[in-house]
Amino acid sequence: MRHWKSSALALAAAVSAIPNYAALDECPGYVASDVTTSDTGLTARLSLAGDACNVYGDDLQDLILEVTYETANRLHVKIQDEGNEVYQVAESVFPRPSDTIPSEESNLRFDYTEDPFSFTVSRADTDEVLFDTSGTALVFESQYVRLRTNLPLDPNLYGLGEHSDPFRLRTNNYLRTLWNQDSYGIPTDANLYGAQPVYIEHRATGSHGVFLLNSNGMDVIINRTSSGDQFLEYNTLGGVLDFWFMAGPSPVEVTQQYSEVAGLPVFPPYWGLGFHQCRYGYRDTFDTAEAIYNYSRADIPVETFWNDIDYMDRRRVFTNDPDRFPMEQMRQVVDYLHEHDQHYIVMVDPAVAYTDYPPANRGMESDIFLKRSNGSEWLGVVWAGVSVFPDWFSGGITEYWNNEFALFFNAEDGVDIDGLWIDMNEPSNFPCFFPCDDPWSAAVGYPPTPRPIRTPPRQLPGWPCEFQPPGTDCDASAKRSESEKRTPTISVEEQRAAVLPKRQDSGEWKGLEDRDLLYPEYAIRNRAAYRTEWNAAQGGLSNKTVNTNIGNADGTFQYDTHNMYGTMMSRASYDALLARRPGLRPLIISRSSFPSSQKYSGHWLGDNLSNWDHYRKSIRTMLAFTSIYQNAMTGSDTCGFGGDTTEQLCARWAALGAFNPFYRNHNSYNSRSQEFYRWESVAQSARNAIRIRYRLLDYLYTAMYKASTDGTPPLYPMMYLYTDDRATWSLDLQFFYGPGLLVAPVTQQDSTTVDVYLPNDVFYDWYTHQPICGTGATRRYTGQNTTMIPLLIRSGVIMPLREQSAYTTTELRTRDFELLIPLRADGTARGELYLDDGESFDTAFSLITFDYSNGELVIEGEFGYEIDPRITTITVLRSSCASSDVDGNSERRISVDISLNEASTTRFD
Ligand code: GLC
Repeated sequence: MRHWKSSALALAAAVSAIPNYAALDECPGYVASDVTTSDTGLTARLSLAGDACNVYGDDLQDLILEVTYETANRLHVKIQDEGNEVYQVAESVFPRPSDTIPSEESNLRFDYTEDPFSFTVSRADTDEVLFDTSGTALVFESQYVRLRTNLPLDPNLYGLGEHSDPFRLRTNNYLRTLWNQDSYGIPTDANLYGAQPVYIEHRATGSHGVFLLNSNGMDVIINRTSSGDQFLEYNTLGGVLDFWFMAGPSPVEVTQQYSEVAGLPVFPPYWGLGFHQCRYGYRDTFDTAEAIYNYSRADIPVETFWNDIDYMDRRRVFTNDPDRFPMEQMRQVVDYLHEHDQHYIVMVDPAVAYTDYPPANRGMESDIFLKRSNGSEWLGVVWAGVSVFPDWFSGGITEYWNNEFALFFNAEDGVDIDGLWIDMNEPSNFPCFFPCDDPWSAAVGYPPTPRPIRTPPRQLPGWPCEFQPPGTDCDASAKRSESEKRTPTISVEEQRAAVLPKRQDSGEWKGLEDRDLLYPEYAIRNRAAYRTEWNAAQGGLSNKTVNTNIGNADGTFQYDTHNMYGTMMSRASYDALLARRPGLRPLIISRSSFPSSQKYSGHWLGDNLSNWDHYRKSIRTMLAFTSIYQNAMTGSDTCGFGGDTTEQLCARWAALGAFNPFYRNHNSYNSRSQEFYRWESVAQSARNAIRIRYRLLDYLYTAMYKASTDGTPPLYPMMYLYTDDRATWSLDLQFFYGPGLLVAPVTQQDSTTVDVYLPNDVFYDWYTHQPICGTGATRRYTGQNTTMIPLLIRSGVIMPLREQSAYTTTELRTRDFELLIPLRADGTARGELYLDDGESFDTAFSLITFDYSNGELVIEGEFGYEIDPRITTITVLRSSCASSDVDGNSERRISVDISLNEASTTRFD
């Protein structure tokens, strides 16, 4: 057994040391035989080509290759074991597409070499090779799979999240681990909360994408050989090689093609695009109500208020603190919000306190928690102390989860939430060090001593004196931690003995027998495992999560399914919300993700820090989610989560956050308060930015609608729109919000200047409407105080704007429209507008197109949704940047009265 030894220093030089290339060089590879070709693809047998090398497990003797041309732009290549035993992601979790087309209709071509087996994927029309595995032998072992592709030197690669590294990935000595991990402080060069094994490669000849459906822990290495050959290499702890290649050729097309496999993002309700206020540390309903009131007094629109785990009774899910968040008062807060057309969201964590309380008891009765092989619940530690974890594979989980939601979030007498926040679903387990057989000692301090009480001190009835502010009248004899302790069904000794499972059913795709599910020989570079020497000694995979040798009800193991835990929670929660309010589109924000999670939830970027580096990093990480992984509803904790923000940073971030699809201010209980009304400059920045966001809300809503129907990203990295302009390929501090608005925030502390790269195109300043002729150079914006954010309009994209902003999105929806028509140099522009009731599935809608050319505006489309607001202003922007037929720069505002319920043509002379 080999444990990865680590230290920060060892890591610096670690890439070449992992994996053991000298040993892997001895691996024989495979030989292809029995090749059967059909119209739509081929199958072959791959047999081990020599003596097994058994570097990190046993080499599998026989594999099956299956190649399917699925669509003109999508090719499926799968290599799996002949026996169907190796773990594969269940169809029930990730349904595969079943499309096929004749191979000659494909824009991609699969070629192979028989001995040793290797394959290439090329563009059919140009023969350009996109993926080529001939550099090294395929290694397919019981606990390790290695496949390498050659790439052009220093390729433009994007994706492979979740990480907070630059949008364009490093290509030398870069190792990206994919293993979902609770990652306070979202470090760079580390695995974070989600696993997204998909990348886009962009070349001067076009973009293509590669998606590996594999939920096992893996290291993806991007590096050069000693002779300078560039490669990208997958090193997985198991699973099969289940690849989809997407032909693009534009990055937008690649991500759209990816959505056909992984699923389309959820379409959030209109109100979900409003501004959200949250914090960890609203200590009671009064504190919450006060903040709601302060927002309105400061005239800063807040659409949705959130409560964190503070509302729970000792952090137990599906409970409320009877003293600080009594149900009656919570209901008053929610009623107040609803009466004012505002919304309410709370957090639910997956772990259920292992104590005698109804949600735990019902879960035990329904047998839905993860268990050891001897049938006892597996115990970990989260906020509530010792906890059990739902097994999302168990038969009764849907009923259990729906029922808990129906009871606690009951509109009649419970907390009538409008949306949901799910967290700690990597799943996170506090340092209960492997083998975690004494969670009781690890749980000391959880639920934590109430945080330092601010003035005036509030009494916490029912809590032992040790947790109370001085002078509180409390029950000195209370020993809550003792009295709440549930007796485990087996002793600690028995639990220890029961660690090794034998829960595996034989059957398809459930995973090979006899693997070391705790200490695989190949050690991925799991951050929590290498962070300190001490951690390394505790075992790599299971650190800070459920032990990986724990079985799921379907016979699989956490070793294989860990990365999908959060996604399965998202799905169950989506169903539970839908059951509560049938017909309404649920809004869920989740921390953990995996391909397909976007079908159920949006994502916030986790526990960032209140500093400038994290402010900048929030852009690239968001772009990866919205524009590669198909998670349209993404955003970061505005003003930062951990540490204390500053007035200047928060003012800047209030503006930047307004251009995240998901816009929420959130911070930690021990950070200084950062509601936007706390400082005048922040309040002003927020008011300005929210006004712009709200005026553009239908434009964003239309972008989110498109994302949810064909995978068009709602945000565009610069290179998505200017693919031929090399200068855009690595830009990740400026981006397009929808197809037409360039957002270019000031990114440096104490600066009022930003250099914006403008490709060769016509732009207009958002505020002044002045034309700006992009020439493929940077343009300096100066004098940008902290309440300002530079915004440029891209010519050619018509934007429907609400004439005025509003305090709530309900009010906003009553406003008339202004149509902003920024003309290209050729005098044309085009745009779209999607309208519906803002929240229902399968509802009447309008999908309207605006076409402007030769002084004529044509409105066409489908007009299913009856709407009162009309277009009352048309603003046409014209520039002389590159055109001789436009005389001079001009802006023209025209009052009109145009219905959005029918097609029309309007001529402007
Ligand atoms: C996690 C979440 C954070 C939340 C906290 C308490 O750290 O990432 O957003 O505030 O838990 O629930």
